[in-house]
Amino acid sequence: MCSIEEIDKLRDLVIQARDKAYAPYSNFRVGAVLLTENGHYITGCNVENASYGAGICAERTALVKAVSEGHKKFKAIAVVTDKEEVCSPCGICRQFIREFGPKLPVYMFTATGKYKLMTLEELLPLSFGPEDLQ
Ligand code: THU
Repeated sequence: MCSIEEIDKLRDLVIQARDKAYAPYSNFRVGAVLLTENGHYITGCNVENASYGAGICAERTALVKAVSEGHKKFKAIAVVTDKEEVCSPCGICRQFIREFGPKLPVYMFTATGKYKLMTLEELLPLSFGPEDLQ
């Protein structure tokens, strides 16, 4: 689990990431932040497209950025929208996160900074992963 300082940083960065969202079609802005095991924070936002299906979620943006920069071990992920209710990662993102963090803590923030914490395993039980291909 994260320290209070780490949670505060996740909260600040995830809100900044959400504010960079490109969501002109849904107007539903989402931010995500990954905390790597060695202390790096990697942000992502949703990036939509005029060809709607080509858009990408905030969580996957953050993960693709992280992995492409050499990070594959994570301590936590945070997500936020503009809403006061927490929003949990979509099914595709749960599967995408699962690849690199089957038990990763997921901090789901509200727009005013409260959070609900669940593990990826709780959000995606009986999941399919790399070990299943052995
Ligand atoms: N979205 C995310 O970024 N993450 C999720 O987990 C759920 C949905 C984005 C995709 C789309 O740009 C917008 O929210 C509305 O679905």
